[in-house]
Amino acid sequence: MTERIYIFDTTLRDGEQAPGISLNQREKVEIAEQLARLEVDVIEAGFPVSSPSDFEAVKAVAKTVKGPVICALARTDRNDIDWAWEALMYAERPLIHTFLSTSEYHMKYQLKKTPKQVLEMAREAVAYARKYVENVEFSAMDATRSDPAFLYQVYAAAIKAGATVINIPDTVGYALPDEFAALVRGVMENVPGIEKVVVSVHCHNDLGLAVANSIAAAKAGARQIECAVNGLGERAGNASLEEIVMIINTRRDATDMTTGVNTREIYQTSRLVSMLTGYNVQPNKAVVGENAFAHESGIHQDGVLKHRQTYEIMSPEDVGLVESEIYLGKHSGRHALKAKLEEMGFYLDDKGLERAFIRFKELAGKKKEISVKDIEAIALDEIRTLEELFQLDYMQSSSGTGAIPIAAVKLSREGKSYEATSTGDGQVDAVCKAILKATKVKAKLKAYQVQAITKGLDAMGDVTIKLDVEGHEVVGRGVSPDIIEASARAYINAINRAVQKGLLEKKKLALKARSSGAAKKAPAKKAAKKASAAKKSAKKSAKKSKA
Ligand code: KIV
Ligand code: ZN
Repeated sequence: MTERIYIFDTTLRDGEQAPGISLNQREKVEIAEQLARLEVDVIEAGFPVSSPSDFEAVKAVAKTVKGPVICALARTDRNDIDWAWEALMYAERPLIHTFLSTSEYHMKYQLKKTPKQVLEMAREAVAYARKYVENVEFSAMDATRSDPAFLYQVYAAAIKAGATVINIPDTVGYALPDEFAALVRGVMENVPGIEKVVVSVHCHNDLGLAVANSIAAAKAGARQIECAVNGLGERAGNASLEEIVMIINTRRDATDMTTGVNTREIYQTSRLVSMLTGYNVQPNKAVVGENAFAHESGIHQDGVLKHRQTYEIMSPEDVGLVESEIYLGKHSGRHALKAKLEEMGFYLDDKGLERAFIRFKELAGKKKEISVKDIEAIALDEIRTLEELFQLDYMQSSSGTGAIPIAAVKLSREGKSYEATSTGDGQVDAVCKAILKATKVKAKLKAYQVQAITKGLDAMGDVTIKLDVEGHEVVGRGVSPDIIEASARAYINAINRAVQKGLLEKKKLALKARSSGAAKKAPAKKAAKKASAAKKSAKKSAKKSKA
């Protein structure tokens, strides 16, 4: 029988842990909505206790995104679980994901706990999380370097305490496919109660084996795969969602598996994530890279022209890669732009739409043909721009042979204006220095990259900038037909991410323990009330459906 594999997307949690990525609430909701259109089964929206902004983002996703299960991560502390529930309580189908390390390295050197203590902590955390939600996932961090016999005991305790999903992470990307498959089989054969729960896997890509390990695990009996769009994640990243899904889809003959993913949304999801995170997709990346369907050599081109399947094992249309047709021009009005944006899945508010329209008109005055990618780039730039952060209102720069490059900028933030001028080693340098002067931010440029969004000399420039702010890496991205303006937008975007991360205000990121103060306790009571009401109604409907 064909096995249904659940796709658990962790782009917004583990993916966001990749250096330099810091998505704001609006960007997280935008990506989560796209993940819902992609029809993933679970969206891990974040780690609420890690920062106030992550808490708010998870809450916003839980409130707005319908369809998939919405999950939040929590360590085994009660405080983490409380915050996870408070962010998740609005979700249609909430899932608390709690984790604890089980390897000797982690227990001894990081946690400084004995195996006995770890076992008890896991049991206690799952039982506590079950007070809030019906669905609890337990992960044994660094499972692949843990003693299997101990791992089985921890999983058994977690299941007994009410875990509904048991996750086996290859946290450091250490396992080989046959070893990992054997571990999955070991868990399935030796853990009492395992038949009642979903067995999940979560693989990191340190040795480039995350996808191979995930598929080997599914063949060995795992039913859920945790993965991230474009393979984003800690260090070398997580298993790439698009590769997992397309392997299952393309090689159904060999895997006898299926997923619920709408593969035609893959390409759009990959682009959205790339544009909003600032992480470019390498051209030769499987499934979503620019060259994934490009045939360069004469022999290959000849073959594909004669019969597509000679050199193509999947079609570009299967992953939603369609030629970007031209559909709007300089005579198109606001309504046409709004309708087209909505058709593409972008819903801008009135101000955002107005700004996008002005930029669209400017572009239409410069370029003969406006493509889907141009419109998409403008829309994404608007999504990146939040009212409470710095906005670019005006910029001018000049240079020439023998002349000193000079730039002037005017920014605004919450109704206040910030202006400055500066010279520099080039126009980009001058404009970036002017931005630093205007915002009074101290930052060091670590990397600068420019690429064209479409072909031709009039293409929009897409600039990615990496900054070091207070010892933290932040990535910004900006687009414009003028690459100096694209650079300014990317620079401001990176500064805004530093603002969001609280790096400039030097605020402590971690939320304080909730136990102190009655004001903090109130929402917990409310949450517990809602949880018990939710449980009661779940029990009622279970009775009804039995009857
Ligand atoms: O890699 C890992 O072990 C994790 C856990 C939190 C599941 O990300
Ligand atoms: Zn991970």
